[in-house]
Amino acid sequence: MEIRAARRSERDEVLDLLSLWYDDRAFFARYNQNDPKFRDDLCLIARDRGGALISTVQIFDRTINLDGKVVPMGGIGSVFTRKDYRHKGVASSLMRLAIDTLEREGFEVSLLFAERLTFYNQFGWREINRKFSMISDALQLGADAATEIDVLDLERDLAEIMSIHRAYSGRINVTAVRDESEWRGSLRFAGNQPMNPGEGSDEYFVLTRKAGAIAAYARAIRLYGITMVMEYGYREGAFGSLAALLRHLGEIAIGRRSSFRLIGDHRRASRLHDGSGPTTPTSAIATHLAHDPDLELQLAAAGASLVHHTDNNYMWRIIAPEKLGCRFSLEPEDASTRAFELFASEKSLYWTADRF
Ligand SMILES: CC(C)(COP(=O)(O)OP(=O)(O)OC[C@H]1O[C@@H](n2cnc3c(N)ncnc32)[C@H](O)[C@@H]1OP(=O)(O)O)[C@@H](O)C(=O)NCCC(=O)NCCS
Repeated sequence: MEIRAARRSERDEVLDLLSLWYDDRAFFARYNQNDPKFRDDLCLIARDRGGALISTVQIFDRTINLDGKVVPMGGIGSVFTRKDYRHKGVASSLMRLAIDTLEREGFEVSLLFAERLTFYNQFGWREINRKFSMISDALQLGADAATEIDVLDLERDLAEIMSIHRAYSGRINVTAVRDESEWRGSLRFAGNQPMNPGEGSDEYFVLTRKAGAIAAYARAIRLYGITMVMEYGYREGAFGSLAALLRHLGEIAIGRRSSFRLIGDHRRASRLHDGSGPTTPTSAIATHLAHDPDLELQLAAAGASLVHHTDNNYMWRIIAPEKLGCRFSLEPEDASTRAFELFASEKSLYWTADRF
């Protein structure tokens, strides 16, 4: 058995292997081809004695906000072993190599999203509860009917969107930090892995303006048949603009005409309500709200019914306690405890748009 980092020439083979998992080669290729921080040496592979590729684990290079510091985070994903080689310790060997690689490459913390918690517990990742929010009927949201809703025009809007993201998400612990090339990459690969091919969609990026300046934006996809706002941002106090976007997305999801004046090309909106999959049209919207209690209050006052769901397939591991200790001016153990407090805090957030 050969366990090592991949080479550039092996990219296609890794994608062929991963397509045995979800039959969705394109989903995995989106990351390999569009993530500016994708590196072949962070893609780990196992080959059997005959040379066949049988397992892979990938490290996704991200940086996150932690207590005002920008901390290198290695996300673990695309963990897959070919069926006929399972339960022989192959993925375990790759996970051990992943830990060595994370340490060697200067990552300080690591995140993964898992169903098999005990498998990852063996390697030191610990699950944490986090809250998703559901706006059960976005059509009930009262919003200013004079709001105009536009779509993203990358060259025209990116600088402004980045500044809203920096100001809004940048205040929140655990959010990923994105420079311009990461933003451009994110707009090409962000999403989430649907259970079955066809249940997901490309994103629909909407925004509103006030006095010419962008006031709020939302990035929506369709996942498991419902609308998921995988990231949003708004200027201070612009709750009404965000409420309008959410209501608009609720209307789009059930195929209803928007209550707002639309500008720009909204053809992508159709992706939020058509396609295959067991879809009963619903104006419900899944997103994250718990980190922003003011927003929750404003949305409730505007008529929204909000429900929280907790999941625990969100797992973290400290990779470099000493480095974290230096950053936080704490003993390594106290810095690790502090980091876990931040990972677990209701006020923290990792946007779905930054998933891997
Ligand atoms: C999850 C997955 C990657 C594990 O791959 P694997 O190569 O079988 O992993 P390992 O053999 O190292 O470990 C699997 C189990 O076999 C056990 N095992 C390891 N070596 C073993 C051996 N020699 N004999 C018997 N069992 C063994 C491990 O302890 C582990 O037990 P656990 O499931 O209770 O934790 C594989 O099942 C897979 O590809 N699943 C589909 C994709 C997926 O779910 N990915 C993870 C998303 S979170």
